[in-house]
Amino acid sequence: MRARLLLIIGGGIAAYKSLDLIRRLRERDFGVRVVLTAAGAEFVTPLSASALAGEKVFRDLFSLTDEAEMGHIELSRSADLVVVAPATADLMAKSAAGLAGDLASTILLATDKPVLMAPAMNVRMWEHAATRQNAATLRQRGVLFVGPGEGEMACGEFGAGRMAEPGEILAAIEQALDGEQRPLAGIRALVTAGPTFEPLDPVRYLANRSSGKQGYAIADALVRAGADTALVSGPVSITPPPAARLRRVETAREMLAACESLLPVDVAIFTAAVADWRPAAVANNKIKKHAEATPAIALAENPDILATIAQSNKRPALVIGFAAETENVLAHAREKLEKKACDWVIANDVSPGTGIMGGDRNAVHIVRRDGIESWPELDKREVGQRLVARIAETLGKRAA
Ligand SMILES: Cc1cc2nc3c(=O)[nH]c(=O)nc-3n(C[C@H](O)[C@H](O)[C@H](O)COP(=O)(O)O)c2cc1C
Repeated sequence: MRARLLLIIGGGIAAYKSLDLIRRLRERDFGVRVVLTAAGAEFVTPLSASALAGEKVFRDLFSLTDEAEMGHIELSRSADLVVVAPATADLMAKSAAGLAGDLASTILLATDKPVLMAPAMNVRMWEHAATRQNAATLRQRGVLFVGPGEGEMACGEFGAGRMAEPGEILAAIEQALDGEQRPLAGIRALVTAGPTFEPLDPVRYLANRSSGKQGYAIADALVRAGADTALVSGPVSITPPPAARLRRVETAREMLAACESLLPVDVAIFTAAVADWRPAAVANNKIKKHAEATPAIALAENPDILATIAQSNKRPALVIGFAAETENVLAHAREKLEKKACDWVIANDVSPGTGIMGGDRNAVHIVRRDGIESWPELDKREVGQRLVARIAETLGKRAA
C-alpha cells in the first residue's frame, strides 16, 4: 500500500465526486478509510463509500462499537493524510473555530497529520467574508487546499466554489504525500495586484488596463509554496487564490494604507499598476456637462507605494517591484531599482502589441543589482512559480 488516507466526506452535492476519488485512489494502491458526516450521508450512501473503499465507513462520534474497534483519536491519526472532500463551509468553519461536536470535526481537531481540503460550495458561500477568513486561518495553520474551481454550479449559479475534479484532488494528495515542496513555510508575503481606481466624481474614475492576473498568479504560487500570503487587490474580476488573505481596495492611498497595516512581512511584491496621479479634487456630485466649458482635470500625485514600503522602518527583507514599460524597458527598470530602493525590479514590456496587459502570458526580465535574468514568454502562472522559486532561494540563502 502506498499510503493511508482518511477521507472525510462533507454534506455537499459534490460528494458524488468523492466516490470516484475513492475508486481512483484504490486503483493507485492507496488505503482509504472514509468518515461520512451526517449531511454527507444525505448525498452518498455509506454502502457505496464502504464498497468502494473496501472498509467500513465511520459516521458516529458516540459509537460504542467504533470506539471499541478504534477510538476517535486513534482514527484521526491512523492515516498519513486527512483529506476533506467536499470541504463544506460548515466543516471549514468548525475546523477554523476548533469545534468538535461531531466525528469529522473532532478528527480535524485531534489529528496530528497533514490535512488537505477540497472546498465545495455555492459562490456566495465561498466568497463570504466568514469563509474567506476561515480559509485564511486554516491555511495559516498549515492546512493544504486544492480548488475550488470556477464554473457552473449544481445550484445554477456561476462562479468560484466548484470542488476540484477527482484527478486534481488525486494530484494534490500525491504532492502532499511526497512532502510537497513548501519552501516558504513560515514566511509572510505581501502582494499587490490590479489597477487602482481614482475617483473624479461619484460615478467616474481614472484607471488603467491592469487585469491583476500576474499578481494573483504570484499570490497563488506563494500560497502553494507555504507562505502566509496577503493579497492587496485593486478592482479586478478574477477569483482570488484560496487561502490568501484578500484586502480589496480602490485607490492608491487605500492600497498604501492596506500594505502598511500588513507589515511586517518577509517579502513584498508590488505588481499592482498603481495610478501615478489622481484627480486633485473629487466632486461630491456627478459633474454635469455644460455647453460653454469642458472641464479640465487637475491631477495630484499619488503616494509611491513601492518606495514608501522599501524605505520604511518595517522594510521587508526582500522588496520586489514591477516595472510596466512601453519603451527602454531595461533602462527604466534599472533606474527604478535605484530610485525606489527595492531589491529586484521585474520589468515587462506592456506596449499594446505585446498583449501582456490583460493577457495570460508575460515575458519578464528580473533586474537585480548583480545582473539581469531574462525569461522567455511564459504563462503568467509559470512566471509566478519561477519567481517564487527565486524568492525561496534568496530568502533561504539569507537565512543560512
Ligand atoms: C441540496 C443541498 C446541497 C448542499 N450543498 C452544499 C455544498 O456544496 N457546500 C456546502 O458547504 N454546503 C452545502 N449544503 C449545506 C450543508 O449540507 C450543511 O451546511 C450541512 O450542515 C453541512 O454539514 P457537514 O459540514 O457536517 O457535512 C447543501 C445543503 C443542501 C440541502
